[in-house]
Amino acid sequence: MYNLLKGKRGIIFGALNEHSIAWKVAERAHEEGATFVLTNAPIAMRMGALNTLAEKTGSQIIPADATSMEDLTNLVEKSMEILGGKIDFVLHSIGMSVNVRKGRHYTDSKYDFTTKGWDVSAVSFHKVMNVLYNKNAMNAWGSIVALTYMASQRVFPDYNDMADNKAYLESIARSFGYFFGRDQKVRVNTISQSPTPTTAGSGVKGFDGFIKYAEEMSPLGNATAADCADYTISMFSDLTKKVTLQNLFHDGGFSNVGVSDKVMDTFTED
Ligand SMILES: NC(=O)c1ccc[n+]([C@@H]2O[C@H](COP(=O)([O-])OP(=O)(O)OC[C@H]3O[C@@H](n4cnc5c(N)ncnc54)[C@H](O)[C@@H]3O)[C@@H](O)[C@H]2O)c1
Repeated sequence: MYNLLKGKRGIIFGALNEHSIAWKVAERAHEEGATFVLTNAPIAMRMGALNTLAEKTGSQIIPADATSMEDLTNLVEKSMEILGGKIDFVLHSIGMSVNVRKGRHYTDSKYDFTTKGWDVSAVSFHKVMNVLYNKNAMNAWGSIVALTYMASQRVFPDYNDMADNKAYLESIARSFGYFFGRDQKVRVNTISQSPTPTTAGSGVKGFDGFIKYAEEMSPLGNATAADCADYTISMFSDLTKKVTLQNLFHDGGFSNVGVSDKVMDTFTED
């Protein structure tokens, strides 16, 4: 390993189980010498898997519902106490659509569900940055990353209202990132990841077909959760100091391919 995060302090949201992208990021951040606090919604902690990760990485856990300003304020204050100073990196790895969970079709959304999913998946990113910014909790040249998916730019019919939530999330990264950069020299980016077999990913209808299609379309194949962790670590490191306000595609090239030979072959007769 490269000691890319030696001496850096972080907060990692969204590790639910060993498949979670945030779980892999935590493991890699630990390998690279970082210390960090792990956090998730209190309800997600009932399964207890996070304790295993905390032990493995020597981290403490602070429960926080990412839609609660009170929980987030407590999280940021306690994290600085535990870690012994300001924060260098934050991962927002949170997504949930109630419409998807309850099987509502996009054309028949229930708007209480829409609002809740939007708050959890998108506005929570604004809330996290609001607390960090107003508490002046980030070190200069710190890095904040949220995870997103390309359904924010192109149509993927079964991604449902998560497409709209991701578009909003990516916009928040730019809008808040401007002020964070100007005032505190902190960078804010989103990483647009390949379909990945996690709890949230597998919740999308037709996920199996979807991930195979992406694999066949991408010249480098799908990026795995472990690949995403590597990329995220580079975004937390000092090697990417001047990258901000970007939506960074991490998808094996999928986003710039019109069609691949493999996909063409399935339509070509002879
Ligand atoms: N899996 C994919 O195919 C894929 C592709 C691109 C982007 N992403 C994004 O990656 C991120 C991580 O998802 P994942 O695939 O690792 O799945 P995951 O299910 O492991 O992680 C989602 C996390 O969100 C947390 N969460 C939900 N509500 C919360 C709340 N109110 N407060 C705090 N945390 C809450 C869950 O507890 C869980 O840990 C999400 O933003 C997701 O949209 C996933």
